[in-house]
Amino acid sequence: MRMKIVGTGSALPKRIVTNDELSQIVDTSDEWIRERTGIVQRRIATQETTTSMAVEAARKALEDAKVDPEQIDLVIVSTFTPDRSLPNTACAVQGAVGCRHAAAFEMNAACSGFLFALNTVYAYFSLGVYKTALIIGAETISKMIDWTDRSSCVLFGDGAGAAVVQMDNESENPYIFVQHADGEKGNVLTCDCHRKANMWSETSDQRETLWMDGQEVFRFAVRKVPECIGEVLEKANLSAKEVDWFFLHQANKRIIQSVAKRLNVEESKFPVNVDHYGNTSAASIPILLDEWKKTGRIKEGDRAILSGFGAGLTWGAALIDF
Ligand code: ACO
Repeated sequence: MRMKIVGTGSALPKRIVTNDELSQIVDTSDEWIRERTGIVQRRIATQETTTSMAVEAARKALEDAKVDPEQIDLVIVSTFTPDRSLPNTACAVQGAVGCRHAAAFEMNAACSGFLFALNTVYAYFSLGVYKTALIIGAETISKMIDWTDRSSCVLFGDGAGAAVVQMDNESENPYIFVQHADGEKGNVLTCDCHRKANMWSETSDQRETLWMDGQEVFRFAVRKVPECIGEVLEKANLSAKEVDWFFLHQANKRIIQSVAKRLNVEESKFPVNVDHYGNTSAASIPILLDEWKKTGRIKEGDRAILSGFGAGLTWGAALIDF
């Protein structure tokens, strides 16, 4: 079974926050952030919301794909920073964009979310249930950040990316994916965002923010990402050299460089935009795909590996033809 991304779109907040601006809030410097992460600036939502950016990215992807919203069978929004618990963000997008025949639900697999949504769509396509889907990764991580914690606040940004996906039997390669989770190591990256207390509860109703053991996450990523890419290559009977692009979740430039080195592939095949957007979690891969597509760098027939990794822990990779 083959599957194709037929359109992409993205939406970013207008407000740019530079490393120098952050150095006025916490004890950090432009030099430290650039050297350790590759990040120069990020976009931070001031008026934008997870839903508003998801809707904007979705509209652009549908326009790019030249697909009528009524043709969409399924809408999935991947996020860990929804505006509301109910209704879910995918229903909000479905209503706003006019995908009136589509089922819609939200899923949270943190920074692997877009990839896991793509895999879910593939499963529906394989069963013959749906033919056209709209997938969105959207985040306003800035509202979950502890802006006094220099080890995490410099890393993240807000934004949304979307893709319209269709069954396609012309592609040379079938869609191949692997996806994994390790809940036992979940405590290395956490974010409690819902109320815990009720009037009978003995639990305090403290609102918590994102917390991360950066070094553990770094070690996990540089080990697991090459490993799962290797699994996909083996299933496809391809070598890393035969792949045109490696679209990795944009968490840290050093992680991307390390993966390229371990796979023995030139870094130029690993698109990077973490420098100007920071880590946008589930939105990072579709924003990157949109940027590379709109600037004409992805050519028809190019073969790409996508790889996501993040909280959960969750990670995975997929092979897809353009
Ligand atoms: N500015 C200046 N100094 C800092 C900052 C900062 N922003 N943050 C930490 N430091 C200090 C630390 O306090 C420490 O000081 P000390 O030696 O006096 O104790 C020193 O810098 C080194 O800290 P480390 O944590 O060892 O720095 P490291 O080189 O590991 O880099 C980083 C930290 C950038 C967080 C790195 O570990 C990393 O990128 N990890 C992966 C993070 C990631 O990718 N997370 C997201 C993936 S999952 C998802 O996307 C949701």
